[in-house]
Amino acid sequence: MLSSYKGPINAAIIGATGGIGRALINELTALSNINHLYTLSRKTYEHDTKMEEAILHKLEFDLLDQESIQQAANGITHPLNLIIIATGHLHDASQMPEKNWDALDAEAMRKSFALNTIGPALLLRYLLPKLGTNGKNICAVLSARIGSISDNRAGGWYSYRASKAALNMIVKTAGIELKRKNKAATLMGLHPGTVDTNLSSPFQNMVPKSQLFTAEQSAQKLLKVINEKSREDTGKCFAHDGTEITP
Ligand SMILES: NC(=O)c1ccc[n+]([C@@H]2O[C@H](COP(=O)([O-])OP(=O)(O)OC[C@H]3O[C@@H](n4cnc5c(N)ncnc54)[C@H](OP(=O)(O)O)[C@@H]3O)[C@@H](O)[C@H]2O)c1
Repeated sequence: MLSSYKGPINAAIIGATGGIGRALINELTALSNINHLYTLSRKTYEHDTKMEEAILHKLEFDLLDQESIQQAANGITHPLNLIIIATGHLHDASQMPEKNWDALDAEAMRKSFALNTIGPALLLRYLLPKLGTNGKNICAVLSARIGSISDNRAGGWYSYRASKAALNMIVKTAGIELKRKNKAATLMGLHPGTVDTNLSSPFQNMVPKSQLFTAEQSAQKLLKVINEKSREDTGKCFAHDGTEITP
């Protein structure tokens, strides 16, 4: 699945308890060439894999707490060949995506930007320097097609859309800096498709069943895209089928 990697892989999955994050961990632990796997989560969790404890390193962080992000990153002691940031926020008990501008609320907007833009930006700050400098080294950030400004035909979902568009700009900007600092590294955004997780559960009736992926299907597609991409793709955002999403 990650055949473009030559040799053992040190990986980090951020958002280990999320639907897609968990599925990514399951896929990676099934590979024979994973050397070290760091999982970062908001709270402790039980992993449902047979991976030897010796190569699975669990670290905790909160996207809303910069110091916790720095401390978790300090716990990573091997150069990383693969980082996937699989955190995100769309709704909770007090917040649903806005259908119109009358629904705009400062606190809800702040939360969307804190979790979808600022948190991942801080993760990049502390994690990109951990990427290896030889061979293939990729950092992928889960974004969303809905963050494409040129593709916005339906409107609505102001905070999620805008926070993902801003995330895409963070990826583009950090990608320019990364190209200067690490000649062997790639940074890109990825759209996982519409996936059957908590994040999408209230909205799945808007999607034909055939277009709703399981987390396992999405994880496999994302790893295939990661396998195919290289340094020239830095700063771009790709869908689960490998096609580029226009900014
Ligand atoms: N599912 C879809 O249809 C879909 C479509 C397009 C894009 N995406 C994107 O894919 C990514 C993963 O989504 P998902 O479907 O797997 O969602 P999910 O199951 O809701 O997972 C979200 C993850 O974000 C973590 N998170 C939220 N707030 C956090 C905080 N303060 N500190 C640390 N971690 C925090 C959650 O941790 P806890 O477990 O502790 O809450 C969880 O690990 C997101 O970026 C999402 O926008 C998903």
